[in-house]
Amino acid sequence: MSHYLVIHGPNLNLLGRREPEVYGRDTLEDINRRLLNWAEERGIELHTLQSNHEGEIIDAIQDAANWAAGIVINAGAFTHYSYAIRDAIAGVHLPTIEVHLSNIYAREEFRHHSTIAPVCRGQICGLGWLGYQLALEALHAETGRRALE
Ligand code: DQA
Repeated sequence: MSHYLVIHGPNLNLLGRREPEVYGRDTLEDINRRLLNWAEERGIELHTLQSNHEGEIIDAIQDAANWAAGIVINAGAFTHYSYAIRDAIAGVHLPTIEVHLSNIYAREEFRHHSTIAPVCRGQICGLGWLGYQLALEALHAETGRRALE
């Protein structure tokens, strides 16, 4: 069975209320429910985590090395300056896809740089919640098929 971890970083617990003109009106629960349904229909085991704490995110990435086939991460603002999260991703050697709800390249300059992009398989941004599902599909196409071989 394929196991994946979805990490939602800081302030994403506020989705629905937080700058809805940028992030939409879906809550994090709405998004997680859709992803969990998607996974269940395919016999995929999915764990979701939201944390406002850098160390907790690092612990989750390290722990995923023991059970997950891949990671989808929206590191929120940590994306733009956390070398520690970048090192954790590089250290576990799990295929990891970076997701952002908004198009970070169409926003403020400080959001244009991602410390984690170079150590991720790929990046999806600007497609809202669907970005998470597309990232899971990509991971599953890659690692799920390999698991069946
Ligand atoms: C975000 C973009 C980041 O710049 C911001 O700090 C977030 C959310 C997104 O999903 O669009 O918290 O990662």
